[in-house]
Amino acid sequence: MKIAVVGPGRMGRAVSESARESGHEVVAEIGAGGLSPDAVRKAEVAIEFTVPEAACRNLERLAELGVPTVTGTTGWYDALPEIGAAFEAAGVGLVYAPNFSLGALLMTRLAGEAGRLMAGRPEFSAWLVETHHARKLDAPSGTAERLRRTLREADPDRDYPVTSLRGGTVPGTHELVIDAAGEELVLRHTARDRSIFARGAVLAAQWLIAEPRRGAFDFGTSIFGPNP
Ligand SMILES: NC(=O)c1ccc[n+]([C@@H]2O[C@H](COP(=O)([O-])OP(=O)(O)OC[C@H]3O[C@@H](n4cnc5c(N)ncnc54)[C@H](OP(=O)(O)O)[C@@H]3O)[C@@H](O)[C@H]2O)c1
Repeated sequence: MKIAVVGPGRMGRAVSESARESGHEVVAEIGAGGLSPDAVRKAEVAIEFTVPEAACRNLERLAELGVPTVTGTTGWYDALPEIGAAFEAAGVGLVYAPNFSLGALLMTRLAGEAGRLMAGRPEFSAWLVETHHARKLDAPSGTAERLRRTLREADPDRDYPVTSLRGGTVPGTHELVIDAAGEELVLRHTARDRSIFARGAVLAAQWLIAEPRRGAFDFGTSIFGPNP
C-alpha cells in the first residue's frame, strides 16, 4: 500500500515504522497545514493520528480529496454523523476507532456479551478502570467510553461507572471488573507499547482499500464483521 501518514506525533511515527516493517510505502508524512492535493497525490490511503481540534477539519479535507482514511484520533466523535456523511458523499471509506489494538477490540466484543448475560440479574455489579500515562489529555479514555457504551447498550438498566487514573508512562490499561457476592471477575487489557495501535491501523487500511467502500466503519467491522 502507498500510505500518507497525517500527524507526525508519537502515533504517526509508530504508524510509519509499522507500515514500513510490513513492506508498505509511506509516500507522505503530513504535519499541521500540510494537507494539500499534492501531498496526498501518490497515496492510496491516509492514516490520521492528530489532535481532537484538528481531526474534523483533516477528515473533511481527506474526504474532499477522495482519500480513503483510517483515523485513530480520539475526542471528535460527536461529529461522526457529519464526517461519515462527507465520506459517503465522496464515495470513499473511513475506518475509525479509539483503540486499534486487536486485544481491546476483542475485549469490547466480550464486554458486550457479558452485558447481555448480566442484564436483568441484580446479583452482579460492574465498573471500569482505565490507567494511562500522565500526558494523556482526555479522561475517560475513548476506549473506556466505548466499553461503557457497549455495556450500556447490552444492559441499559445498569450504570457502569468509570474511574480514570493518570500517571507515569503507562501506554494504556483497561479493566472491566464484575462483582458478585463472594466473587470477582476481571477482564483486563494491557497495552505494552503503542506499536499494537499502529499495526491495527495498518490492518484497517488494508481492509479499507481491498474493495470499494464508502462511508464510516468502526474497526471491529473491518476485523470481525458488523457488530452483533
Ligand atoms: N486509536 C488508537 O489506537 C490510539 C492510540 C494512541 C493514541 N490515540 C490518539 O491519537 C491521537 C494522537 O496521539 P499521539 O500520541 O500521536 O499525540 P502527539 O504525539 O501529541 O501527536 C499529535 C500530532 O498531531 C500533529 N498535528 C496537530 N494538528 C495537526 C494538523 N492539523 N494536521 C496534521 N498534524 C497535526 C501535532 O503536530 P505539532 O506537534 O506540530 O502540533 C503532533 O505531531 C490522540 O487523539 C490520541 O488520543 C489513539
